[in-house]
Amino acid sequence: MTITRNILLNPGPATTTDTVKMAQVVPDICPREHEFGALMRSITDDLTAIAGGDGEYTTVLFGGSGTATMDTVINSVTPPEKKIMIVNNGAYGERMVKIANAYQIECVEIQCSWEAFPDLGEIEAALQRDPDIAVVGMVHHETTTGLLNPIQEIGALVKQYRKVFVVDTISSFAGVPLNIKTCQIDFMMSTSNKCLQGMAGISFVICSTQELKRVQSYPRRSYYLSLYDQYAYFEKSSQMRFTPPVQTMYALRQAVDEFLEEGQQQRYDRYTQNWRVLREGMQGLGFKILTQPEQESHILITIEYPKTPGFDFDMMHDKLYERGFTIYPGKIGKKRTFRLANMGAIAEDDIRDFLQTLQDVLIELNIQLP
Ligand SMILES: Cc1ncc(COP(=O)(O)O)c(C=O)c1O
Repeated sequence: MTITRNILLNPGPATTTDTVKMAQVVPDICPREHEFGALMRSITDDLTAIAGGDGEYTTVLFGGSGTATMDTVINSVTPPEKKIMIVNNGAYGERMVKIANAYQIECVEIQCSWEAFPDLGEIEAALQRDPDIAVVGMVHHETTTGLLNPIQEIGALVKQYRKVFVVDTISSFAGVPLNIKTCQIDFMMSTSNKCLQGMAGISFVICSTQELKRVQSYPRRSYYLSLYDQYAYFEKSSQMRFTPPVQTMYALRQAVDEFLEEGQQQRYDRYTQNWRVLREGMQGLGFKILTQPEQESHILITIEYPKTPGFDFDMMHDKLYERGFTIYPGKIGKKRTFRLANMGAIAEDDIRDFLQTLQDVLIELNIQLP
């Protein structure tokens, strides 16, 4: 069977290998069987290790998209009567604030520019000002723009003030090398379908076991999305509390194997090369990139709409989509932008093919960039 290969330049779900796709085709199995429990355990052990965690860390799996684990962590790790501080420099930082608000958890929001790194002085001043802040949350790779926040420096600051550090690594995990210990992260969230190059449907939290055990006594603000209950149930039974996405789990096993085979540094190098070719190619076609290269993740770029008369993102999207390339709209308030992500099972030649196809499409649409 041949499967049409599409090049997804949206920031996940990403392009997958055929071997990952085919890994989903397995004999039916009840997920409460030992065999399936062993499969999930092998995955959690590997995910903890990929994050640089040792015996003092553990991974808790959930069925659901990345936002399910953002929700889980925020509702589970904030102690009663205490506050969470969120550093917001993009739509996903903003989503963290909305989740805290939905649970009526008191939230101190550090509102930053969405086009640059947060100001560490501002973060420190807020920590000094308010002793009721117990948890600090932020995003590692802000997929809104492609900014890769300086998590290690912020982690050091958070720990200087002895706060719990929560980081959304949903669009960077397995794409950018990151060590949970050196960055002093207590809880980090990610998913199966971005830089891990698996299928959508599984998300997970890699946790400091010591901090995780502390949350046992906190209020259960959600029945389904309870981090401690999910952990405790899996520890005792090697099962998820509720039905997991069974076939997606087999694909994740395969995706993790392929990650381990490629190696973290090699995956990062491949992404970096693809990003470099994409960035230079887009600039060569006359597009302007929103952020500075030294602050970018090497996984995504945000492109400003050109002022050229006749430029129409939707038409460009549709023409590219017909030819097997998916591009993605922007997410920044008033500024008109679009995004290109280079995560996934894609090679430099795919990026070069995309650039050539885009050039053809621009000619076809009679769009002349400066
Ligand atoms: C940084 C970040 N956080 C959270 C999410 C939300 O993930 P999901 O759409 O899987 O719920 C995304 C999705 O793109 C993301 O990039």
